[in-house]
Amino acid sequence: MHGEAYDVRPYLLMRAAELAAERPAGAAEDVHFTEALAASVIEDTTSVGGVVLDPFAGYGTTLAVAARLGRVAVGVELLAEHVELIMARTAGRATVLHGDARALTGLVEGPVDLVLTSPPYMTAVHHPENPLTGYATDDGDYPTYLREIGAVFAQVAALLRVGGHAVVNVANLVSGNVVTPLAWDVGRVVAEHLSFRGETFLCWDEHPPGHAGDYLLWFQRS
Ligand SMILES: C[S@@+](CC[C@H](N)C(=O)[O-])C[C@H]1O[C@@H](n2cnc3c(N)ncnc32)[C@H](O)[C@@H]1O
Repeated sequence: MHGEAYDVRPYLLMRAAELAAERPAGAAEDVHFTEALAASVIEDTTSVGGVVLDPFAGYGTTLAVAARLGRVAVGVELLAEHVELIMARTAGRATVLHGDARALTGLVEGPVDLVLTSPPYMTAVHHPENPLTGYATDDGDYPTYLREIGAVFAQVAALLRVGGHAVVNVANLVSGNVVTPLAWDVGRVVAEHLSFRGETFLCWDEHPPGHAGDYLLWFQRS
């Protein structure tokens, strides 16, 4: 993956039990990918000493794995309790900034080799809770959410080195008879700032509730 040839895996088999065993208590809504998945992306796209950033650090899967693999791990996370969890999980081997990813370039310095992240999710309707305030305010609306996610990735593009990657884990969502093409919509707004390189379909043995297709979307700063 480092060189000219580009080979995004079309699908990966994912085991729900593996994710359930790793997930910190209470993280079911937030932690969507396994440490093994993070390791494969980090090893495919960076070398030891490379800088890995997660602007929506969550419970720290990306940062914990990046630090373990000898990468420089940097994260931004809005919720103080998540920041504390990541600091305990990574035992000082990651830099975790308590802040808002919408102000990313004011918090983090480039160049960054890889951004591996999963943004907070939102359905297109019946979802006033704003994902980008940690669902703490009721001013959420889908077009604004997508515009703000796009603005975060404009900043990701500014921080990435030329040739660096952004890999985004995002699923389409199903709620009753409403389908939110979240993966397509997030992919579209990210592609306004970075070159789309392909997708990996995450093929779960037990499908996560509320999710339709689950993907890694691969982008590169060209
Ligand atoms: C889907 S979770 C990420 C989980 C992470 N991939 C993991 O495995 O631990 C999204 C995270 O983004 C955080 N978040 C939401 N809005 C944010 C913002 N504006 N700036 C930074 N973090 C934010 C949420 O608090 C949540 O922890």
